[in-house]
Amino acid sequence: MASTQTSQSLAAKVQMNVLPDDTLFGIAPTMFGVRSKAEKICRTNVPVLLCGEGGTGKEALARWIHSKSEFAMGEFVKVNCAAIPSALLESELFGYEKGAFTGANLVKPGRVEKAHQGTLFLDEIADLDWNLQSKLLHFLQDGTFSRIGDQGERRVECRLICSTNKDMEKETAEGRFRQDLLYRIQVFRLTMPPLRERKEDIPSLAEHFRQQFEKQFELKSFAFPPEMLVYLKSLPWLGNIRELSNGIARYVLLGPEASLHQENTGRRDRASEGEAERAKRLPLKRIAKDVIHEMEKKVILESLRANQWNRRKTAQELKISYRALIYKIRDAGLVSRRAALQQQGREIRPSE
Ligand SMILES: Nc1ncnc2c1ncn2[C@@H]1O[C@H](COP(=O)(O)OP(=O)(O)OP(=O)(O)O)[C@@H](O)[C@H]1O
Ligand SMILES: [Mg+2]
Repeated sequence: MASTQTSQSLAAKVQMNVLPDDTLFGIAPTMFGVRSKAEKICRTNVPVLLCGEGGTGKEALARWIHSKSEFAMGEFVKVNCAAIPSALLESELFGYEKGAFTGANLVKPGRVEKAHQGTLFLDEIADLDWNLQSKLLHFLQDGTFSRIGDQGERRVECRLICSTNKDMEKETAEGRFRQDLLYRIQVFRLTMPPLRERKEDIPSLAEHFRQQFEKQFELKSFAFPPEMLVYLKSLPWLGNIRELSNGIARYVLLGPEASLHQENTGRRDRASEGEAERAKRLPLKRIAKDVIHEMEKKVILESLRANQWNRRKTAQELKISYRALIYKIRDAGLVSRRAALQQQGREIRPSE
């Protein structure tokens, strides 16, 4: 497949979202095996299955493997098999021809084609519908597939990385996942340990996120006192690295008083309950509400910052009443950098 992009811009793209080796793998002994295996397999073109609880860094590892592979100059194409309804997933993955079904007014290449000479990352592979499992198996056997409504076969060469937080042996034993497909996708299997089994990495990960969020929110925060690092290491982190990242975001935004352990509170009682299982039981409405809430918070924060925290101007810009804005600011726990620093009893330096 021809590409008009310069090698320079491609190289920049490859670097996008790829964590440095030491940040990704850390120093915890539980990561040694993952690192040495990953370093070996990244240079081969065999399918890899990444396992591990939610938020342990499976996608981060997939991007890293892609960046080190011979397909690094191609695209990293992610498809979340759980997020796209099965009825749409086939056309999303394999594309369709004009007139293939009602509404198919144009030819649409699928994501598999987009991944030609790159990496196809199938996230949450266990949720792939049974029929699509067969089509994927066919593709893996000889690299060919057909767009929906197309008689002809197309050939794509790409690297395949799949990820799951499910027990794949159970999925096959209970008839939800094809055994033959599992053999194909897991020529190599890498399992990311949960954060509670790589506690040695918590201080450096926390510091990594603190610096990241300081930049993102344009805020300064306190360096972590040693006792806080001890405390962080003592938490169960059922949401793993993602949960730690969220905790540090609150720390940077709201200061040490912010509930760093907010997501942990009450979770100790549910320590045996899988994060993914719990997340799955969340009603869709609740998930959508949370996402909208987060986005709203981000927009308000950006607008407040653009208007130097002038709330009247911000309300005008956002086309909501002043009262509504005040309510939303309180509800979202947003504070200005000045207020945050004052809350922390810290002087504002002239350069800040
Ligand atoms: N070693 C690391 N250093 C810094 N950030 C990391 C590291 N590992 C993961 N992250 C960050 O943590 C978050 C969760 O990681 P990621 O999405 O890769 O996890 P996951 O296992 O794919 O989760 P899920 O199963 O929920 O999709 C991301 O924001 C990612 O950038
Ligand atoms: Mg993921």
